[in-house]
Amino acid sequence: MTERHVSVENLVKTYPGAAKPSVDDVSFSLPRGEMLALLGPSGCGKTTILRMIAGLVEPSSGAIRLNGREVSGIPVHKRNMGMVFQAYALFPHMTVAENIAFGLEMRGIAKADRAAKVARALDLVKLTGLGDRRTTQLSGGQQQRCAIARSLVIEPELLLLDEPLSNLDAKLRDEMRDEIREIQGRTGVTAIFVTHDQDEALSMADRLAVMSAGRLEQIGTPRQIFDRPETEFVASFIGAGNFLNGRVTGAGEAAVDGFGTLRFVGDAAVGQDVRLMVRPHRLVMGGAANSFTGTVEHIVYRGQILTMTVRSGQTRLQADLHTHAGALPEKGQTVTLGVAPEDVTFIGRAA
Ligand SMILES: Nc1ncnc2c1ncn2[C@@H]1O[C@H](COP(=O)(O)OP(=O)(O)O)[C@@H](O)[C@H]1O
Ligand SMILES: [Mg+2]
Repeated sequence: MTERHVSVENLVKTYPGAAKPSVDDVSFSLPRGEMLALLGPSGCGKTTILRMIAGLVEPSSGAIRLNGREVSGIPVHKRNMGMVFQAYALFPHMTVAENIAFGLEMRGIAKADRAAKVARALDLVKLTGLGDRRTTQLSGGQQQRCAIARSLVIEPELLLLDEPLSNLDAKLRDEMRDEIREIQGRTGVTAIFVTHDQDEALSMADRLAVMSAGRLEQIGTPRQIFDRPETEFVASFIGAGNFLNGRVTGAGEAAVDGFGTLRFVGDAAVGQDVRLMVRPHRLVMGGAANSFTGTVEHIVYRGQILTMTVRSGQTRLQADLHTHAGALPEKGQTVTLGVAPEDVTFIGRAA
């Protein structure tokens, strides 16, 4: 069995005066060395969970365990957790090295040891030689690297990152994604990072915990979350989807308007009303195991991708097709789209 390094059990937080909990019965655990993304829309309770783990917010109920040990009685500074926030929270009157050394000084580490640890942390985040700069002289990306070095230099038990890339521009954000992932991999530190950005979560995390309105919807690997979403919320929050209602007619088969029979992967009893989902980019031109013939209602050429809406009766499908230099479909044309059964996701019973 994988060791549970960090676990959160039935965690609840209701802020004073609030009508309903901001975090509502959330449980999950991480093995050592894992990077977990807490993903969800603004206000769903991600930061509250992170702050409870750090000891900055007191849970209303539930437990948080580190190495199996309940942490509730342990104050913030004794939990040995590194934190990185959206706003870097660096001390402007100190140099980069002084900022990084701060946590070591608080922990009473001797000066000579501090210098060696700071030098290593600077190397780790590629700020070698910049220790004497003021943090105000650093670029946004360098400031965030400094914040990461500061949180890692204490060799934390757990690294907590709250929207660490939100203040960076798009290009830098991509670079920093790779870099944070690489630093985390190299140090082997267990990490939880909060983001509302699905791309960020998919590309950086070992597993994603998707949240909505204080509740955990699903936890899984990027591929499980993207290809096998278990709730309609997860399916629509991550990526785009065509949602279809059907009635099960046989093993892995449902009657769906426009398709006739739609073959899918999943278990459902004959006669059951089901909800199925097809991602726009998994549709291809031409029939396949599943085919849908309809009229092109709307089309947008976007260079690499052609997005079109195809209608048959009451059913509309959005298809994102890779373009090519030959003839492409046009508005008003009748086209047939195909999709493989494994690309038809069974979401659950129809509401
Ligand atoms: N200190 C607080 N006092 C009262 N309500 C709060 C406090 N912090 C957060 N909330 C509320 O709790 C909910 C979840 O907030 P938060 O954890 O910050 O979500 P997220 O990080 O996912 O955006 C929101 O409705 C927010 O308004
Ligand atoms: Mg937040």
